[in-house]
Amino acid sequence: MGMILLPVFALLLLICFCNSKDRLTPAKPLSIGDRLISNGSIFALGFFSLKNSTANSYVGIWYHNIPERTYVWVANHDSPITGSSSGKFVLTSSSDLVLLDSKGSTLWTTTNNITTEATGAAAMLLDSGNLVIRLPNGTDIWQSFHHPVDTILPNMSLQLSNNNNLSMHLVAWRAPDDPSTSDYSLGGDSSLQILVWNRTRPYWRRAALDGVLVSAMYQRESGPIMSQTIVNRGGEFYLTYTVSNGSPGMRMVLHYMGMVKFLAWNNNSLAWEVFFERPGPSCDRYASCGLFGYCDTTHAVATCKCLNGYESIGLDFSLGCQRKKQLHCGQGYSFVTLLNMRTPDKFMVSSLLPVLLSLL
Ligand SMILES: *[C@@H]1O[C@H](CO)[C@@H](O)[C@H](O)[C@H]1NC(C)=O
Ligand SMILES: *[C@@H]1O[C@H](CO)[C@@H](O)[C@H](O)[C@H]1NC(C)=O
Ligand SMILES: *[C@@H]1O[C@H](CO)[C@@H](O)[C@H](O)[C@H]1NC(C)=O
Ligand SMILES: *[C@@H]1O[C@H](CO)[C@@H](O)[C@H](O)[C@H]1NC(C)=O
Ligand SMILES: *[C@@H]1O[C@H](CO)[C@@H](O)[C@H](O)[C@H]1NC(C)=O
Ligand SMILES: *[C@@H]1O[C@H](CO)[C@@H](O)[C@H](O)[C@H]1NC(C)=O
Ligand SMILES: *[C@@H]1O[C@H](CO)[C@@H](O)[C@H](O)[C@H]1NC(C)=O
Ligand SMILES: *[C@@H]1O[C@H](CO)[C@@H](O)[C@H](O)[C@H]1NC(C)=O
Repeated sequence: MGMILLPVFALLLLICFCNSKDRLTPAKPLSIGDRLISNGSIFALGFFSLKNSTANSYVGIWYHNIPERTYVWVANHDSPITGSSSGKFVLTSSSDLVLLDSKGSTLWTTTNNITTEATGAAAMLLDSGNLVIRLPNGTDIWQSFHHPVDTILPNMSLQLSNNNNLSMHLVAWRAPDDPSTSDYSLGGDSSLQILVWNRTRPYWRRAALDGVLVSAMYQRESGPIMSQTIVNRGGEFYLTYTVSNGSPGMRMVLHYMGMVKFLAWNNNSLAWEVFFERPGPSCDRYASCGLFGYCDTTHAVATCKCLNGYESIGLDFSLGCQRKKQLHCGQGYSFVTLLNMRTPDKFMVSSLLPVLLSLL
């Protein structure tokens, strides 16, 4: 009897300890093997390796309530703890989080925004997946949501512009087992469009923002609803999305191959379901139909087409299209309206736009 009860008792004890562990204080650093668990047991933070015990290790956040290990944030993604070295994740007396290797060198650190000495701060892992450094009066002086890597979680905002000064970017992992910065990044451009870049070259472009847009909805039979919004807070534009309460995990990720994906955890099949993925398999990539060509997505398989009066130069559209006949102005030529086209790239935002929008 006792032999059977003992393991169960030990397990309960373990769960109880875990559930109280959602924060770090200067007196309580995190070592390899330790974990922070958010209050509602939704997210965990700790050290991890992606390959084997001799591979690099990182400090990151993953879902605690999802069996497939899925990382949503990595602190030291570009500065791993190498080889068999160990590490410590510490909240300093000046209220910054610091990752130290076994030699005491700093691999990664936050720079909080307080100027006055504050005592009693704690680093807390919240049920939203946000790691915050919180003062006793409730002010957060740093948060991981302001320093994303490749993932946007519900309620997180990606700042697309700061009065036309570009700010936050997502950066894709280099490979499934390598979270270091790859060639792909996502962010807003000076025209307030969302772009994925392959280094400095645009790879995918999303239609321009109008500041009031709700752009996507998703609903499974079981009910979770996602709505994605571009919000304008005093001239600063943010991309954000919310999910209905009680929804299982949902995340937007810039995949290591450069795709933007929205995924939802299916608690029946125990797998991530992709319900939005761009660029699509064919001509959805930036400028993939060349000059005077466009991607026709009205059919099951999207294909490149030329504008009326144009023909393709090459077979594969990489050279775009050319006029069938030389243009002779004034001989019955006129402008035509092309419906349902994406706003062209490199347009300029007129200062009249807010006035026009307010008239709608
Ligand atoms: C943790 O969750 C419990 C119940 O879910 C709640 O009563 C408590 O206030 C929470 N603690 C914190 C620090 O949020
Ligand atoms: C473990 O990782 C190291 C470095 O990445 C690699 O050289 C080694 O072959 C791996 N060992 C196994 C058993 O996978
Ligand atoms: C998002 O924020 C709303 C309002 O603050 C809150 O009710 C909701 O629980 C949050 N959702 C998540 C997933 O954190
Ligand atoms: C909390 O404390 C910090 C540091 O003492 C201070 O800068 C901040 O204004 C306080 N916030 C509130 C809401 O009282
Ligand atoms: C520090 O940043 C937080 C948001 O993370 C903000 O609420 C707070 O006002 C900032 N404090 C200062 C002193 O800038
Ligand atoms: C734009 O950002 C850069 C770098 O972060 C900063 O140095 C510059 O002052 C900012 N400009 C404006 C107008 O905010
Ligand atoms: C990304 O750009 C590199 C050159 O910088 C190119 O070799 C590669 O094919 C591009 N990737 C894709 C998917 O287009
Ligand atoms: C999935 O279902 C299990 C068992 O009902 C539950 O404990 C867990 O929190 C659920 N996960 C999510 C992500 O909703």
